[in-house]
Amino acid sequence: MCGIFAYKGSKKNATELVIQGLKKLEYRGYDSWGVAYKTDSKINVYKEVGKIGSFDLQNAEGKIDFSLPCSLAVGHSRWATHGGVTVENAHPHLSSDNSIAIVHNGIIENYAELKKDLINKGYKFKSETDTEVIVHLIHDNIKLGLTDAVKKAIGYLHGRYAVLVISKDENILIAARRGSPLIVGSGEKEFFIASDIPAFLEYTRKVMYLDDNQMVVINDRPEFFDLETGKQIEKRIVEINWDAKEAEKGEFPHFMIKEIMEQKETISRAINQDEDKILKIAEAIKKAYGTYLIGCGTAGKVCLAGSYLFAKIAKRHVNSAFGSEFPSLQDFITDKSLMIAVSQSGETADTLEAIEVAKKKNAKVLSIINVEGSSMDRMSDYSINIKAGPEKAVASTKATTSQLAILTLLAYAVAGKLDEGKILLVEAASKINDMLNPRYEERIKTLAEKIMNHESMYVIGKGLNYPMALESAIKLQEVSYIHAEGFAGGELKHGPIALISKDTPCIAIVANDETKHEILGNAMEVKARGGYIIGVSPENNEIFDFWIKVPDAGNASPIVNIIPVQLLAYQLAVLRKNNPDMPRNLAKSVTVK
Ligand code: AGP
Ligand code: GLU
Repeated sequence: MCGIFAYKGSKKNATELVIQGLKKLEYRGYDSWGVAYKTDSKINVYKEVGKIGSFDLQNAEGKIDFSLPCSLAVGHSRWATHGGVTVENAHPHLSSDNSIAIVHNGIIENYAELKKDLINKGYKFKSETDTEVIVHLIHDNIKLGLTDAVKKAIGYLHGRYAVLVISKDENILIAARRGSPLIVGSGEKEFFIASDIPAFLEYTRKVMYLDDNQMVVINDRPEFFDLETGKQIEKRIVEINWDAKEAEKGEFPHFMIKEIMEQKETISRAINQDEDKILKIAEAIKKAYGTYLIGCGTAGKVCLAGSYLFAKIAKRHVNSAFGSEFPSLQDFITDKSLMIAVSQSGETADTLEAIEVAKKKNAKVLSIINVEGSSMDRMSDYSINIKAGPEKAVASTKATTSQLAILTLLAYAVAGKLDEGKILLVEAASKINDMLNPRYEERIKTLAEKIMNHESMYVIGKGLNYPMALESAIKLQEVSYIHAEGFAGGELKHGPIALISKDTPCIAIVANDETKHEILGNAMEVKARGGYIIGVSPENNEIFDFWIKVPDAGNASPIVNIIPVQLLAYQLAVLRKNNPDMPRNLAKSVTVK
């Protein structure tokens, strides 16, 4: 979670640039933020509780002095794991003599033992974070010089981390990683290190990826080291093809609505894949003795939808599990298994850990990701880029439908009907393009106004659309903060129907397939108990109190049906004065376990 960013170079004021870059990473964590910058032989630190987005660079007087020449700075936008949201706990953290500053993303699992040892040595802690042990450990070894002191300190750490280090005494920038993302951007005599590319995309598209157990020391140029062998390593420069504009809001008030609207194009982009590669992956699925779809949160719901898609389209049993649960299933995995990891960021810790488990058993891994060069992309045997472009709103929308499109395509490829699958998805993409018009938005806003003051709502679906009922609930919870739950329609009568009272909103996702009559029957059961039925369906029905029309998309129905719920969640968030892009307690990329 958390966004970290550093700049070394003299072309721009480092402090200003780091703050601007951090603003672009804010979606990764936003409870507090801070920056450390080197001027002459001094480290200055400024920290605040709250969102960095609200910090006005023009009115920073008395807080940060931008007039001081500065060519080295690090910054952090926090998502607290250890210690409350306070200025003391915000990063950067300083050594006791203020000579070293660090920022950290991740969790140091053995911090309590390390802290005890350091306290015994006389170190005084100013924060409750796990992070602070790192800076004292570096300081404790500083007689080795900064680079070796960092190497030594890292050796004591258990857990996942991305750490950036600067010191008042050496004009270098050091970064090390295990488990949390770090990317080096390479400009002309200037370098950037960030947890995600949008932080520096406007300055350079040339990047180098830091892998696990690696460190980089940037002086005039970056030198990479393997932390296990101590050996220097060569890095390839990769050119990123994202457009800086894609990572901006443009004329939209929020990223979430921009990204929902981008679904007019993103499905077509997703399915435009190399056919030979898709067929090769389909063969691997056919050959595997057991395939597991793994993802977390929304991606986990997409995986569940994948199980239904493979069963229905390819007549094949494909398991699905949440990343965090997969370690408990690992005994089933063999070297003939295949894992399909689904992740927008390619950096989710629980999914990464599941991949590590599968790899240890020599299973093959396919990743379906949106970030080229992400950890999952690099550690997999095959990967498919969904090409949705940067997704910055915490609530996943366009990545979700693109992931669904890829799984649908793969199911058709396994069935030997790739062309049929492509035609279905091309048609669905064009129907979505027609659907997402201003009138449609307006209608969903009307619905949001009607239900915005309810405390609870429910979503039901069946078959291919049962996972979409679960995903709908996540969308509504995340940004509207209304209690929402998704159920398989048939399950209601086994318990949840007791929750229905007069006017409780219940969304029924009714696809035009073999499940239609049963799910309508389930909606009827809710209505009979006073529920307010919102039908998401190609056709109206007398049961519906409010009808949201969706195109009839056959087996692509999960893709089209989730879109109106995304819009509803967005409208509810806006009406309830929540920030849909940065919902409370959440962060975009969950890089801690
Ligand atoms: C989606 O709306 C959520 N913010 C969240 O559940 C997300 O899908 C999950 O954390 C997985 O992220 P990933 O796709 O980057 O792995
Ligand atoms: N564990 C650290 C903290 O609680 C870092 C959290 C983060 O990744 O933002 O401060």
